[in-house]
Amino acid sequence: MKIAVYSIKPYEKPFLDAANGTPNGQPNHELGYLDARLSQATTDLARGCAAVSIFVGDDASAPVLRALHAGGTRLLALRSAGFNHVDVSEADRLGITVLRVPAYSPYAVAEHAVGLMLALNRKFHRAFNRVREQNFSLDGLMGFDMHAKTVGVIGTGTIGAVVCRILRGFGCDVIASDPMPSAECVAMGVRYVALPELYATSDIITLHCPLTPATRHLVCEASLESMKPGAMLINTSRGAVIDTRALIAALKSGHVGSVGLDVYEEEGDLFFKDLSAEVIQDDVFARLMTFPNVLITAHQGFFTREACTAIAQTTIDNATDFEQGRVKDANRVGVRHLAPPTINPAGH
Ligand code: NAI
Repeated sequence: MKIAVYSIKPYEKPFLDAANGTPNGQPNHELGYLDARLSQATTDLARGCAAVSIFVGDDASAPVLRALHAGGTRLLALRSAGFNHVDVSEADRLGITVLRVPAYSPYAVAEHAVGLMLALNRKFHRAFNRVREQNFSLDGLMGFDMHAKTVGVIGTGTIGAVVCRILRGFGCDVIASDPMPSAECVAMGVRYVALPELYATSDIITLHCPLTPATRHLVCEASLESMKPGAMLINTSRGAVIDTRALIAALKSGHVGSVGLDVYEEEGDLFFKDLSAEVIQDDVFARLMTFPNVLITAHQGFFTREACTAIAQTTIDNATDFEQGRVKDANRVGVRHLAPPTINPAGH
């Protein structure tokens, strides 16, 4: 099958080529690698391709899907777990099958989230620069023991559950909020609480829910105000779960202690590119980067060898399954995903 692979990066190709190989040395599918990001301006590049593969910064909105469909595309193969960049209803209406990689390495993202916590707490980013300038002073670098601190985990699915396990290993008191509590997390001693309690009692809050209409700006002015003064906030889920302007206000007032972000609301214009010689036009992002207690990585939570191997393999398998008419239901993104999860009576 001809697959137009958008937003390809040099580091991704070897993984896709390896996954696309067959024992006789012939590639399974015809992969057309495109540097371009999928948008209304670039749909023509996929004309005649039965499948299109995209990453998180690509635009699969309704007009883009209609143009792809007119060009013969019938499969959208996401190289990601998240699918908030796809108009699922329109894909359904057009009869375009959308397949994702529901789980690759949850450890990659979970370990990155915990890495952000440790780096912010012990100020590795500042210590690194200081020592290189032969400044061996410890002033301003004091952290806290993670042991016995309360960590609030919002979203205890595949990734959130691994975060809970790591933090329980540190001896943290882990509380959580999820409309679908996990028996695995309860068994490891995680306590499900209502969101107001999670905000009010957590020393660290970490986000692992998907971006849906219900979670857009879940962390807003009111929720930030209800957090414990000095709390640390970590987001490795999707940028728009946090209202960035409200976060900046809470950082300026000193109410929020520190922030670790792997994702940003408007990251589509910034991340996955080398902009080191350019002037950043996004003033909100530029302000965010000025805080000494904010640590930003450019959506690299997934970026481990193991995760990239699994993403490439599942993407190729999804294409093969589609071609052979035996799509895995667990990998299919459909309108059923659009129904907001019901909140249980405790308000989790
Ligand atoms: P998952 O689907 O296994 O788990 C998500 C959990 O969030 C589910 O248990 C769900 O019930 C819960 N949830 C839904 N609405 C909620 C709400 N309003 N409040 C609290 N919990 C809620 O997804 P997985 O694999 O754990 O991934 C989580 C998110 O992480 C993805 O949706 C994606 O946005 C992000 N992600 C980020 C990556 C990165 O590189 N930074 C890589 C992979 C995923």
